[in-house]
Order: sequence, then C-alpha cells, then structure tokens
Amino acid sequence: MGRYRIGVATGAWLFSGSHNRVQLWLVGARGEARLELRLRPARGQEEEFERDVPKDLGPLQFVKLRKHHSLVDDAWFCDCITVRGPGACEEATFFPCYRWVQGQDVLSLPEGTARLAGDNALDVFQKHREKELKERRRLYCWATWKEGLPRTIAAERQDDLPPNSRFHEEKRLDFEWALKAGALETVLKRVYTLLSSWSRLEDFDQIFWGQKSDLAERVHRCWRDDELFGYQFLNGANPMVLRRSASLPSRLVLPSGTEALGAQLERELQSGSLFEADFSLLDGIPANVIRGEKQYLAAPLVMLQMRPEGKLLPVVIQIQPPSPSCPAPPLFLPSDPPLAWLLAKIWVRNSDFQVHQLQYHLLSTHLVAEVIAVATMRCLPGLHPVFKLLIPHIRYTLEINTRARSQLISEGGIFDKAVSTGGGGHVHLLRRAMAQLTYRSLCPPDDLAARGLLGIPSALYAHDALRLWEIIARDDVVRGDPELQAWCREITEVGLCQAQDRATHEASESRSHLLLLKTIPDTQGLSSAETLAINLYCHPLAQVTDAPNPPQHGGPIRPGPQPGWDVPGSRWGSRALLVVIFLHAIQTG
Ligand SMILES: [Fe+2]
Repeated sequence: MGRYRIGVATGAWLFSGSHNRVQLWLVGARGEARLELRLRPARGQEEEFERDVPKDLGPLQFVKLRKHHSLVDDAWFCDCITVRGPGACEEATFFPCYRWVQGQDVLSLPEGTARLAGDNALDVFQKHREKELKERRRLYCWATWKEGLPRTIAAERQDDLPPNSRFHEEKRLDFEWALKAGALETVLKRVYTLLSSWSRLEDFDQIFWGQKSDLAERVHRCWRDDELFGYQFLNGANPMVLRRSASLPSRLVLPSGTEALGAQLERELQSGSLFEADFSLLDGIPANVIRGEKQYLAAPLVMLQMRPEGKLLPVVIQIQPPSPSCPAPPLFLPSDPPLAWLLAKIWVRNSDFQVHQLQYHLLSTHLVAEVIAVATMRCLPGLHPVFKLLIPHIRYTLEINTRARSQLISEGGIFDKAVSTGGGGHVHLLRRAMAQLTYRSLCPPDDLAARGLLGIPSALYAHDALRLWEIIARDDVVRGDPELQAWCREITEVGLCQAQDRATHEASESRSHLLLLKTIPDTQGLSSAETLAINLYCHPLAQVTDAPNPPQHGGPIRPGPQPGWDVPGSRWGSRALLVVIFLHAIQTG
C-alpha cells in the first residue's frame, strides 16, 4: 500500500528497438503486484520509475521480470533492480541481475542478501536456488578437450557459450581491436625486416617499437644482465620454477677441470644460498616444425647463488640433462665468451617461456579457473556468498578460454604457427604438468615452503602471495556448507579429473581457501599474486626476453666463441610478436 520507487540499471541492449516494455512483479511476503515499465534504450544508466501499489506487499523477497516479446526479440542486459518504498521509506532493497533478459520466460530475482542453504526460514529461497541450479546444469555442461587435461565448458566456439558468459560488446570490440592492431603491427615489422638478417644484438631494435610499456623499456635496457636474469626467477613473469637447493641436482654432472665450480656450489649449498631452476619437464617434448623448419627445445638447469644483498645471480647453466647415449652435456659459465653465455641465458628464457605459458599460465590459471567457473555455475546458486564473491572474477573466463582453444592452442593455431612447443608438444607438456598438479602445488604457503622461498627479503612475489593468501584464508564462511562441498567435489572429481587422488598431506579445510584464491582470474583487477605475476607480466617481459622460439643456427649452442647471430630477423621477430600480441590481447582486451 503506497508508492514505490523502482530503479532499473541497464548494462546493455542488443538492439535499440522500440519494444522496450518490461513487466515487473514486486513479490513480498504478503502479496505481489504487477507493474509495466517502458525503458529507454540506454547503456550503463539507471532509470527511476514511481508506481502506486494498492496493497500491502510486506518485506520484498523477489522481483520478477519479463521483457515484452516481439518479432525482433531484442535482448536487454539488466544489471540490477533497486526498490525503495512504500511511501517515504528510503531503505533500498537490492535485486542483482547481471543477466540478459530475453524470450518469453519470467526471470525471478531474489533479494540480494547472501544466504547459505538451510539457514533461511523462507522456503521460497530454497525452491528458487534448486530451480536455478537445475537450469544452470542444463546450460553449463562439461566437455573433454584433451584426455589427461582438466575438463572444460562444452563449447566448440564462443558462439556456443551460454549468452551470460559471452563478452559484452565493449569487451569484444576491445579484444578484437587489440588482436587486429597487433596483427597489423606484426605485418609492418615483418615487411620492415624482410630483407635483413640480424647480425648484432642491437638489430633487435628493428622490432622494438609500437606497443611497448615503461617496464618493457626498462627490460630492454638491461635484458642481457645477469642481475635481471636472476631477478626474473624471483619476481618475473614466472616465479614458480625457482627452488632453494637441498642437494646438488643429480643431473648436474661436473666434468674434470671444474673442481673450483664444484667447490663453490658446495659452499653455497652449505650456507643455504644455492638455488636452482630446473626445466626437466621439457626433456623429450617433441619440437615443432614451422613451415618446414625444424625447431628446437632445451630442458635446462640453472644454478644460482643468492648474494647477501638479495641479488640472485646465475652460476652455471646446463642446457640439456645428461643422456646415456651422449657425452656429458656442456656447462656454460659467466666466464665464457659473452655471446656464448648470453645465448645460454636466452635458451633458458625460451624454456621458461614454454613452461610459463603452458604449465603456469594456461594450466594453473586459465584451465583451473575454467574448471572452477563451470563448477560455480553448476553448483552454487546466485544467493550463495561464494557465488557472489566469485562471479565478477569469472565473468569472461569461459569465453577467453574458448577463444584460446579455438585460436591459440588449437590445431593450426598460433602455437602451431609460431612456438617451439606447438604442433603437439604443447599438449604433451600440459599432460606432464597436469600429472604434477596437486593442491599443495597450488597453495602458496605450502608451495613456497616446499621451494625454500620463505623469509627471503628480495622475494617480492612470495611476500605478496602470502599476504593475499592470509586475507582470503580468513574467509571461512563456507566450511561445512553442503552446496560448497558439492562444488568442491565437482571441481576435484569432475573438472580436475580426480585431482583429490593427487592431493596428499593436505588439510581438507585449506581446499576451499585455495579454490577461492585460484579462481580469481586474470581479467579483473583483484587477483591472486600468482595469477597477477603469471598473466600481467606476459607482455612487457615476453616482448624483450622471452621469445617463443630462440634464435638458432642449426641447433642448440655449444660452448666457445659463437659464429654470430645471422638470424632472419623478420622470421623470429614476427613469430615472437604473433604470440605476444595474442597474449597481450587476452590480458588487456
Ligand atoms: Fe591470461
């Protein structure tokens, strides 16, 4: 009984037609009222309507929406409905929507307060959440992209996705524009360098223009330095490989004549200042063939020392592990001829690029986030507090990953065209990485402790990861909740293909915290430290130091003076840019 003020926030219209009539029901504990609204085709705006309701509705529980259906069924993306009243009552009741309203169905929006199942006395909410999940389970189905890898949303292309998981027009335009601008830049650079070879390091500048950042400029100035090389293992795009050595790695065979090196490594080991980055995961991965040209992959080991002032510096690089059929692999030292040492570091950076992009970027952030996004849509109703917490952060995960599967890592995709692990090696590597994926490896306190990286002042990533973890781990609202338990089961048993069997020595209560941390993806401002580091540094660092395939002349380098680069600059440069630009579009688009 009285006048209600209704605020309607519109996110987007598909078309700006003239059929913008909306039926809206206010549903209270004591009755409901049907109202007619005529909306203006606007985006990002809130319109307010005043309507008299002749009866007492009691506390509002739902609003229901139906858009007028016409021959041209123009969809309307409703952000939320706010209701004030009756009469002078100023307190607003908030009904979040954030969905497309289209077709003839009535969309039911519960009042926005988060509620766990079973702790509400009003049965209407329980019925609502069951109905909502039934519908979502129909829309969000699992599929297997490749055996042995996390399951994905069932969608071959982005057009197959449920409409509410698609990019909005603005996002789509941003993404596609970033790709087109990048492709244009790549073509220009290819033309610019078509006839030239790179014979000096400075020739790299031929492609270092266009899209670049302050960080890329800084890295460009000092990318050859040992200090930056070591720093990247601690705080660069991939801070996940480095670990403190507990013993000298068995693969490190020290030939005679390297006794001084052996003694130095032993001293560092005893003082706890010896670290290693081992890329054995790449050993035996088949390398790509790009336009008939064989590519190469290394599986290096880098030993590093932590200086008292916190600098991490490389001591020795072994490009390949030993093999029974080959002589002991050569070791590269900072005292080698400068170009030989630099090339050894470039091979390491290339290996780091492969492991970073596939194991940590694609698998640990994108594919795991997708599993959690699909499980969230299938298991958590909109009223659940964890759903409310996660949904802004998984908004575009499904479309980004679907695009990646159809353009980046697909057969004939950008990895096949431009990256040494393309052509199937990337799937091999992902499967190996998946076999190592455990809860423990995803959980920062456990992971950092296992890698001996706690308490190092210059390990900025480790500090940030732990601080974010502590903030998120305080939120234990979900422990013991049946809907959350169903969500965890869906993630581990279905999405991550029985990952619980690989989760040993871990407290089960840490899982929900872990999942919260892992789910927060890379497309939004709030993020986990790992996701931020691994996703957002892709572009500035990859632009300068991390190429998808290293410059080469007939295979990997050997010790001693190097003959020079003599690398067709256009080929290497344009391949690097192709990959980097796609990754950049994914981050910023
Ligand atoms: Fe990403």
